[in-house]
Amino acid sequence: MLKAINLAHKFDYLLFESVDLEVKPKEKIAIVGSSGSGKSTLLHILSTFLKPNRGEVFIDERNIYSLSEEELIKIRREKIGIVFQFHYLFSTFSAYENLKVAALLSNKKIDFKLLKRLKIENVIYQNVQTLSGGQQQRVSIARVLSKKPKIIFADEPTGNLDMENALEVIEVMFEYCEKNNASLITVTHDIEIAKKFDKVYELKNKRLNFWS
Ligand SMILES: Nc1ncnc2c1ncn2[C@@H]1O[C@H](COP(=O)(O)OP(=O)(O)O)[C@@H](O)[C@H]1O
Ligand SMILES: [Mg+2]
Repeated sequence: MLKAINLAHKFDYLLFESVDLEVKPKEKIAIVGSSGSGKSTLLHILSTFLKPNRGEVFIDERNIYSLSEEELIKIRREKIGIVFQFHYLFSTFSAYENLKVAALLSNKKIDFKLLKRLKIENVIYQNVQTLSGGQQQRVSIARVLSKKPKIIFADEPTGNLDMENALEVIEVMFEYCEKNNASLITVTHDIEIAKKFDKVYELKNKRLNFWS
């Protein structure tokens, strides 16, 4: 599903080199590492948004950085979902309107079962600004999952949630992967969260090492 071979990248200094990674359908992997180690950069490279200085990334056997911009946009739209620490919801809209826009763009229906699972079915008609941080993050996750992505990339998705909300959100993403044969690649600095994943890798000393 996703394969990265011999990645290296530098900005002002070398962030990492010799990075290999393979993620299969239904597999959930976490990448940990201290702040500034290059986790977000690696996630951008894996998710089609940044061409690495060296190495290749394959999504469904296709070498993504050899593709045209149109083909990349198609992959982003059809296969990839991205969750950030700070959600990017339209703040003057209701949660429902945010979900509706996403549904229209991806030609999918709003999944009310999913909203119920995320415990936001009763608040979606409120303006997003009136929701708690945890509720807003659930809306943004509902928005991403409603696209039915095959690979979810999440950068500190639980970073601004308390432990209870964090575990709940992780659980919903795991269930989604199981049901939809999807993979999840999450960056987190939280070891307790990372332990829930099938595999954990650590970005350290410019290498990505298998951890557990
Ligand atoms: N677009 C960029 N241009 C220049 N330097 C960058 C850019 N993005 C990240 N960096 C630098 O690369 C380093 C790693 O950043 P990042 O990948 O965000 O690390 P992490 O997510 O592990 O905290 C930081 O020192 C950061 O300043
Ligand atoms: Mg980061």
